[in-house]
Amino acid sequence: MSKSNKRIGVLTAGGDSPGLNAAIRGLGKAALGRHGMELVGFRDGVRGLAENRSIEMTPGNLSGILTIGGTILGTSRDKVHKMVVDGEPQDMIPTIAETFEKNKLDCLVMLGGGGTAKNAMRLAKAGLNVVHLPKTIDKDVAHTDNTFGFSTALEIATEAIDRLHSTAHSHHRVILAEIMGHKAGWLTLGAGLSGGADIILLPEIPYTVDSIAETIQARRDRGTNFSVIAVAEGASDVLAHADIAAAEALKSSADTPEAKQAAKAHMANVRDTHREHTFRLARELEAATGLESRVTILGYVQRGGTPCAEDRLLGTRIGSAAAELIADGQYGIMVASRGEDTAPVPLEDVAGNLSTVPLDHSWLQAARDVGTGLGD
Ligand code: F6P
Repeated sequence: MSKSNKRIGVLTAGGDSPGLNAAIRGLGKAALGRHGMELVGFRDGVRGLAENRSIEMTPGNLSGILTIGGTILGTSRDKVHKMVVDGEPQDMIPTIAETFEKNKLDCLVMLGGGGTAKNAMRLAKAGLNVVHLPKTIDKDVAHTDNTFGFSTALEIATEAIDRLHSTAHSHHRVILAEIMGHKAGWLTLGAGLSGGADIILLPEIPYTVDSIAETIQARRDRGTNFSVIAVAEGASDVLAHADIAAAEALKSSADTPEAKQAAKAHMANVRDTHREHTFRLARELEAATGLESRVTILGYVQRGGTPCAEDRLLGTRIGSAAAELIADGQYGIMVASRGEDTAPVPLEDVAGNLSTVPLDHSWLQAARDVGTGLGD
């Protein structure tokens, strides 16, 4: 392929994730080396883009980052159309378009999850050439097999469940391990299966305390006086699940700015009531089973540290494929992972679509087949 002389920008946005640096490096080395492009990095996601805080990316600053966790560029969770500036939400799309112009960019590459896909879509609609690379430990981006960050988080959460087994066993306790994922249960299901959790609770499957207590009791009847439960951050009992679904429906049917505002406030209230549900569940299970119950919140440990080999590989593959697609002039896309390969997917198919665990998914069937309780 001939050298293209294009100048591309890159930023990382949303929650950080192991493998981001591998993807920056994959993109950068392919862009600078194979395709003869120039690369400029923007600091702290969309905020640094709006503020034109940039850094010229050279072979020097792309070197030695493959194995480093987090993102060398920094990140933020800002939205392009309502970024808070001086305490007020502002539409920064025109300012971002200016940054694009000032830096003489041919394309902007945005590494991030679902929120970043929406930001990318908004910039594409405003006429900017953008490419999105799917990152998140939640693996909930639509139309891609995987997202970088997931495999590392899966290892971390699995090891935590392994370790919780011996202490739960020694104390004859129920231990609940809360795993990240508000709307999608991929990480909890994957780690629960890999770590042999006795019960797995997902946002996709509402639970009842009775069902969980029955599973624990059945284990006791067989002489096993402990249980380890993998609970997704966003798992909920049947009542809370119905409340959340009703609030979601209200949000998506709201058709005026006022109704949208009210629906959002209602949703925030519902989610607030639901916060700390894992601690509540532990208390309820202690009362229902008579076994001492404890909670371990895995939290940000799941996102930190060195990426595993799988995430380094995925980040490198997707990053270098992005450089090739940009050299070809393909914009307005996400670079998806498809088996061993990658594929461009139109941003409009990705933005606003979440990949949750389908109820007939083989991982769920496998969980049921090995006797794991799913709380339903
Ligand atoms: O989106 C990835 C994720 O790690 C979720 O699993 C988690 O709920 C969320 O980010 C936490 O976000 P924050 O970094 O804003 O606290």
